[in-house]
Amino acid sequence: MNEAAGTVAPSPEGAPAAPPVATDEVVVLDYGGQYSQLIARRVRELGVFSELLPHHVGVEEIERRKPQGLILSGGPASVYAEGAPRLDRRLLELGVPVLGICYGMQLLTRELGGRVEAAEVGEFGRSDLRVLEPGRLLAGLPAEQTCWMSHRDTVFEPPPGFTALASSTASPVAAVEDVERGVYGIQFHPEVVHTPYGNAILERFLADVCGAERTWSAASIVDEQVARIRAQVGSGRVICGLSGGVDSSVAAMLVHRAVGDQLTCVFVDHGLMRKNEGEQVIAAFRDQFKVPLVAVDAQDRFLARLAGVSDPETKRKIIGEEFIRVFEEEASRLEGARYLVQGTLYSDVIESGGGTGAATIKSHHNVGGLPEDLEFELVEPLRTLFKDEVRRVGEELGMPERLVWRQPFPGPGLAIRIVGGEATRGRLNLLRDADAILQDEIRRAGLYRELWQSFCVLPDVRTVGVQGDERTYGNVVVIRAVTSDDAMTADWARLPYDLLEQIASRMINELREVNRVVLDITSKPPGTIEWE
Ligand code: XMP
Repeated sequence: MNEAAGTVAPSPEGAPAAPPVATDEVVVLDYGGQYSQLIARRVRELGVFSELLPHHVGVEEIERRKPQGLILSGGPASVYAEGAPRLDRRLLELGVPVLGICYGMQLLTRELGGRVEAAEVGEFGRSDLRVLEPGRLLAGLPAEQTCWMSHRDTVFEPPPGFTALASSTASPVAAVEDVERGVYGIQFHPEVVHTPYGNAILERFLADVCGAERTWSAASIVDEQVARIRAQVGSGRVICGLSGGVDSSVAAMLVHRAVGDQLTCVFVDHGLMRKNEGEQVIAAFRDQFKVPLVAVDAQDRFLARLAGVSDPETKRKIIGEEFIRVFEEEASRLEGARYLVQGTLYSDVIESGGGTGAATIKSHHNVGGLPEDLEFELVEPLRTLFKDEVRRVGEELGMPERLVWRQPFPGPGLAIRIVGGEATRGRLNLLRDADAILQDEIRRAGLYRELWQSFCVLPDVRTVGVQGDERTYGNVVVIRAVTSDDAMTADWARLPYDLLEQIASRMINELREVNRVVLDITSKPPGTIEWE
């Protein structure tokens, strides 16, 4: 969670998202594979609502959702290993089509009497798929195609009654089906971009096999959430902490669409935002969207408390505490407010227990969040949504591109980018100016959306330089730009040399205090995205 007030620690129950009303759904059971979330996202992109549930969630929980289809994900285990996740046979008796992917296929194969064994060689990365018999699942697709594999165990024989549909370089049986039974399996990963016909295969499963209606869209999400918010809130007063980030902004706009001026937004300017960001938030919400907004200029308070502090965790703690204090003061002024909007996303829900626990868990990202003991009932309109869906909902609500596509920004803001030193007003201003040059050039080069984050770091060191025949002793600005899908891992972005030169030369020419610009070329792991 990367926004000051938009998101907090996951809601206490940490339960899987509730299925929305009147929408066909396909449940993805998570066996711990690294692409499990991606399967659910792809299904949604194809217009069918999908939830990721732990593989051990229980048949009753699945039945309650009345899904049109069930997908068993990949996973790291060997189906024949002791303690490996098993298949509850009752899942096959629900009358719901089942598609097993990778581990999911191996599980179905083993459970239904086929042969799965460790192969002599694993199959990782691109592989050539040969369709032997298109059957129902692969109908209409090319006989030869590329697919993405990631497995060591292999299916050697399909279960009795199944047809082997395809083989690949190292998998004698790479796809199977038993149409009568409604059970399908593929060894490769249709959800990753390296399987060019992956979407087409998922689409066949959703439309042709499951007969799911493809009604899940940004417009349908807006309609549904607006109805839900109205039902929850009635005529009550609602408060929303706005950070300017996409999550809290979209959540606020949805609530405003639902209950209008029953909503009041509170924006706390802690003085650690990027250049002009505070003004932009105020202009967008107050002037453009006409949302009642209380803007609190708390810069002095935060800076006073940060004076003399250089330890990163202490900075985080102070900022978190002070944020809560300011927010509570403002909230207490809004008489009768009973509801609090949170921009909790579906990925937060999954990470807090909706998933199997196989995925890595974020730890420090509730800085800037609100404590759970606030006396409010939570309104969480993004709780079923992935980040890309939140952005599409933002666009659907007519929000400007700049807001909807904003890169993530940490709750403690620029304070944790002044590394090894104190976040003083002067240092913050310098960093803000350097950052503004970077953002400006990155946007001009058309790269802003391609990067997960791009920002500057200001270490607490000086270096020697020479400018205009004079020796200088100035600041170093670090350029950090990364690509990533989810911030769990990241790669340093290969920015063009010319662009880097332009950025460095502007920083040095326009900012007197800067005499050196360097580029961070560390991926995550081993580095983190931020420096502190
Ligand atoms: P790291 O540095 O751990 O960051 O690779 C991963 C993502 O989290 C953001 N980040 C934070 N967000 N409060 C936040 O709200 C924090 O204290 C914090 N620290 C890091 C970071 O910007 C990146 O997107």
